Amino acid sequence: MKFYNLKENDEQVSFAGAVKQGLGKNQGLFFPKEIPSFDNIDALLAMPLVERSVKVLQPFVSEDLNEKQLTDIVTAAFNFPAQIQPISADRAILELFHGPTLAFKDFGARFMAKCLQKFSKNKKITILTATSGDTGAAVAHAFHGIDNIRVVIMYPKGKISLLQEKMFTTLGGNIETIAIDGDFDDCQALVKKSFDDEELKNTIGLNSANSINISRLLAQICYYFEAVAQLSRQKGKSELNDIVFSIPSGNFGNLTAGLFAKAMGLPIKRFIAATNANDTVPRYLETGEWSPNTTVATISNAMDVSNPNNWPRVEHMLKSGIVAQDCVSSVSIDEEQTQITMIQLAKLGYISEPHAAVAYKALQYGTQEGEFGVFLGTAHPAKFKDIVENTLGQPIGLPKELADCASETTLSIDMDADFSLLREYLLAKK
Ligand SMILES: Cc1ncc(COP(=O)(O)O)c(C=O)c1O
Repeated sequence: MKFYNLKENDEQVSFAGAVKQGLGKNQGLFFPKEIPSFDNIDALLAMPLVERSVKVLQPFVSEDLNEKQLTDIVTAAFNFPAQIQPISADRAILELFHGPTLAFKDFGARFMAKCLQKFSKNKKITILTATSGDTGAAVAHAFHGIDNIRVVIMYPKGKISLLQEKMFTTLGGNIETIAIDGDFDDCQALVKKSFDDEELKNTIGLNSANSINISRLLAQICYYFEAVAQLSRQKGKSELNDIVFSIPSGNFGNLTAGLFAKAMGLPIKRFIAATNANDTVPRYLETGEWSPNTTVATISNAMDVSNPNNWPRVEHMLKSGIVAQDCVSSVSIDEEQTQITMIQLAKLGYISEPHAAVAYKALQYGTQEGEFGVFLGTAHPAKFKDIVENTLGQPIGLPKELADCASETTLSIDMDADFSLLREYLLAKK
């Protein structure tokens, strides 16, 4: 299958091309030419995660990877579970934080790293990525120690949690980290500018591991299938038509993957894109006007994005009829509601963190009688230890992955949000 550039439609590349290039000409996002669909979803749902994921991904990648190669990649990448945990009679959480960096991004980053390693054939590559929190750790761990791949990660200085920062700034080796004096949108803009600079791009073999890279999103499709498979076992197939997913959204990669899954025939009724105060999308869906405000810092900091880079993919799916317009709604949840919701969830016996709480609250606004709401648990609560403990007034333990890096030294350098400084840095160490 080919992937085409949503801005420059004539640019068409295979999966390997899209993975290596990251972003197309004129900053266009790659999008699959066809969305595969499956006749027998029940048979797919009956399979184990890895076997099913190979079937789901195969049509997208078959030009570049045979079934054995894809199976090897998926087996190595998805070596941890995605788990549905019931919360109440009509609510469940899909826990996506059981990977090495305790965040949903482990699925996409590990799949991408294994694909890129296969496709780069020992050519030198620089992965330049911006993180609002968890991408950094997932990408750093997925690529750490891979020969010929240099990873440069930028993040907004002082705007991510200390533990999040420790998880990717302490590795060293082929992982370089830069604390940018600005917000996440500034970091993202620096990545985009770098991609616009042909000379820089070619000299250092630039690639991005942000969710603009289609491989990450394709990997994420697989856990929607896994969620529905687990629900069909728990609830029975007849109950499957009323599932509503609520997705804590920042760059809207997770929503994009969910829409792919629906377009492929997975029985999902609709999606709620839950945002924090950075509410460009809910306002856009209500008024039709795209008018990003200045990004504001919130306790669900990984969603502090006011110009989400995957929105063009979502918009394309809605406008071209790949999915129905009414299958996406969006709601903004404020800080107070987020914290009250964390307390409510704790009373139900579930310790959550701000991102999941935003999504749970959105279900309370957005579901109707008879619908079953699944919200995504995108990060382990311990990654937001301070805010969780302050909100709930009780201590929470650190899982081993976090305890191990908490005492390590941060190796980041500081930099102003200035493209010429970044360019100089990237070229100096090429
Ligand atoms: C914990 C957490 N939740 C939600 C999101 C938002 O996901 P997306 O960018 O796919 O919308 C992120 C992204 O960084 C995240 O780290």
